[in-house]
Amino acid sequence: MGMHDWTVETADLADAVIGYARARTRLDPIPLHEPKTEAELDELCGETITPVGLGGPRALELFADVLEPASLSVDYTKYLSFVPAAPTESALLFDLVVGACSIYGGSWLEGAGAVWAENQALEWLRGLTGMPDGTGGVFVPGGTIGNLSAMVAARHASEQTHPDIEGRRAFLVSAESHSSVKAAAQVMSCDVIKVPTDEHRRMTGAAVQAALDEHGHRICGVVATSGTTNLGVIDELVTIGPVCRDAGVWLHVDGAYGGAALASPRSQPLFAGLEHADSFIVDPHKWLFAPFDCCALLYRDPDAARAIHAQHAGYLAFLDAYGDWNPSDFAIHLTRRVRGLPFWFSLATHGTDAYAEAIDITLDLAGYAAEAIAAAPHLEIAHEPSLSVVAFRRTGWDADQYQRWTEGTMRSGLAFVTPSRLDGEPIYRFCFVNPRTTNDEIDEIIAALA
Ligand SMILES: Cc1ncc(COP(=O)(O)O)c(C=O)c1O
Repeated sequence: MGMHDWTVETADLADAVIGYARARTRLDPIPLHEPKTEAELDELCGETITPVGLGGPRALELFADVLEPASLSVDYTKYLSFVPAAPTESALLFDLVVGACSIYGGSWLEGAGAVWAENQALEWLRGLTGMPDGTGGVFVPGGTIGNLSAMVAARHASEQTHPDIEGRRAFLVSAESHSSVKAAAQVMSCDVIKVPTDEHRRMTGAAVQAALDEHGHRICGVVATSGTTNLGVIDELVTIGPVCRDAGVWLHVDGAYGGAALASPRSQPLFAGLEHADSFIVDPHKWLFAPFDCCALLYRDPDAARAIHAQHAGYLAFLDAYGDWNPSDFAIHLTRRVRGLPFWFSLATHGTDAYAEAIDITLDLAGYAAEAIAAAPHLEIAHEPSLSVVAFRRTGWDADQYQRWTEGTMRSGLAFVTPSRLDGEPIYRFCFVNPRTTNDEIDEIIAALA
């Protein structure tokens, strides 16, 4: 292929790709789609990696006609499973720009402008947490890497203050903490000690104190959750914070899902005590309207994170001369996409009031759903609703019936509401993060459960 052909084709492809992205970001309504088997996809697409290439237009056509429809749209308004996502149009479009600019986000030297903007977005989040000036961090791919990176920093700090302990180091966590916390501890060869929760399923300062008294300096950190995934429960940070501070134990707060509610003055009081955290995460790709993948990780003392995470090599030493803020130094990574930029762009575009409003809309949806469920004869609330999660039972159904209803409504495109479990029993849960969901859609799903 000559240079001329290539240029022409690239121009056409740019129009096609950008046109496709523009159309997708404005799609209304957004279809759920449904998965296909590997055999079906083999049959529909054939070989796509060939010696001479398919050409951009054909590859795009395959994506548009086959691959995208075989992938669920998490921004579908009746996708209420797991923790969905509802990125703003501005964040989605800016994600294209981030890709186009080829910015390396690991060092100040290479990414100064972009990293500065990411830091502005982190600083907004810091202000919401009440953590002190000087707090800082980095955007990492998700809550799992955020939790792991923070826990590695916590363990390192404890190794400095208590180098000699008997047995394995351990983290105190609530029984309701996210699976990624246990996974992180496993990677680190640390134990996880579950702290009993109160009648609201919250970890409390008193329970943390009792566990610290029992296990002593083996405990290298406490992981509290501000918004559990299954139920939206926020641990009692207001009592846990001072206990950790007095004991000199690192407090990490996992707000991957729920931390977003800090953006709404209405729900901010629920997070009292968060200002004591040594580290905190929130995933803008969950409930802060940013595309995958984006987790904000903050440290009260960024130097404590740098002490363990900064990588050193002869070929990297040059970077140290250019400013002392290299995002690579704050998590388990080196090369990084400036994944906080779509979030920054959307925040800069819309302003923070719009974020507060959007969060409030989703909280209102949860309130509406809770009332409608309480009033429905075939349903019952399984746990007092918290944040934007509403957990409920379909009375009289066994686990198979839960499973079949979900499968059927997914295939028909009526809704995507997957079963979960509470105390070993099946439940459904709605998790609202999409302000475009409507009360009518909630009524439709509740009616379909009859
Ligand atoms: C409370 C909590 N922590 C951590 C995670 C893990 O986040 P990610 O899936 O972005 O790795 C999740 C995911 O749902 C979560 O809800």
